[in-house]
Amino acid sequence: MRKTAVLLAVSLTGISSLAQAGDVEKGKQVFTQEAQPSCTVCHTLADAGSAGAIGPNLDELKPSRERVISAVTGGVGIMPAFNESLSSEQIEAVAHYVAKVTDGDKK
Ligand code: HEC
Repeated sequence: MRKTAVLLAVSLTGISSLAQAGDVEKGKQVFTQEAQPSCTVCHTLADAGSAGAIGPNLDELKPSRERVISAVTGGVGIMPAFNESLSSEQIEAVAHYVAKVTDGDKK
């Protein structure tokens, strides 16, 4: 019993430090695969190789991290909210990813 708890604590710590190191990679996976419907269906983002044209071109919009978090969490217009299908960790990772690859945080 005690051993299980220790193992669990160790593996959780491992997961969170991995998430930190691989945030951009993880965010890219959320963008291209984990979000349903996928962000790629609606958005153009060169780094993700997507050419969706239903929503704004993210390479041009260059949204900040906060702007992505807000759009993904609550939805905007016809863009669905993902707060029930993605964890806050996934939302933060995708926001970090989009802002990073578009230089959205440097505007
Ligand atoms: C079904 C199509 C669709 C999907 C899927 C989708 N979006 Fe959108 N997105 C839109 C549309 C349309 C808008 C513009 C909404 C408006 O301004 O009325 C938008 C707007 C945005 C904006 C700009 C918000 C703002 O502040 O103006 C960001 C950032 C964004 N989407 C990121 C994402 C990310 C990241 C994902 C995946 C988790 C995603 N979108 C999935 C259609 C979509």
